[in-house]
Amino acid sequence: LFAGEWGYLRSCHAIDQLPATGPAEVAFAGRSNVGKSSLLNALTGRKQLARWSNTPGRTRALNLFARTDGVGPVVVDMPGYGYAKAPKVEVAAWTKLVFSYLRGRPNLRRVYLLIDARHGPKPVDVEAMGVMDEAAVSYQAVLTKADKIGKAAQREVVAATETALRRRAAAHPDVLLTSSVKNEGLDELRAAIATLVAE
Ligand code: GTP
Ligand code: MG
Repeated sequence: LFAGEWGYLRSCHAIDQLPATGPAEVAFAGRSNVGKSSLLNALTGRKQLARWSNTPGRTRALNLFARTDGVGPVVVDMPGYGYAKAPKVEVAAWTKLVFSYLRGRPNLRRVYLLIDARHGPKPVDVEAMGVMDEAAVSYQAVLTKADKIGKAAQREVVAATETALRRRAAAHPDVLLTSSVKNEGLDELRAAIATLVAE
């Protein structure tokens, strides 16, 4: 799936700009700056894929990508929630967009909920989990920036994240640990997505 060529489809600033529900979608969600766009670029092996439409750390719309030959899912790069430095009204707009997408997208097969490995789940991440539990949207936690912490801290944050997900209705129990910089954990994530959309 990820050996093919990926390209940009479109950006949506509001829910009604999304294409009619079609192929399976897989989305990358998480706090601002957690590394969603970077992970998408690393997965597809295209440095510019999720970057030309935004400066790093400032994705403002739902950006849709797919393989150029149409095989496989549509992948959605989402604006981050909780960006402290942005104006309050803008944050409110992105958060509304993200949460309404998470609630009401029938062809959304899974959300990869990215969490910074240095911090573990924050209250706003737990809020996002609650939204997806309620909407019965399957999600899996992906820890990012693993290169920034040591092995012991990695084990601790994996365990803490697993604990935060336990008994949550729509959560996948396995936590993935990744680094877009060191290309760690990417093959596992690629395999997980390929298996999911082949089902
Ligand atoms: P928003 O679009 O604002 O929600 O941010 P984002 O989640 O798309 O984050 P983005 O990919 O733009 O990355 C934010 C910053 O983190 C950038 O400076 C990246 O270079 C850095 N970064 C992303 N992934 C990694 C990683 O695996 N390791 C390290 N060390 N830095 C990373
Ligand atoms: Mg981004």
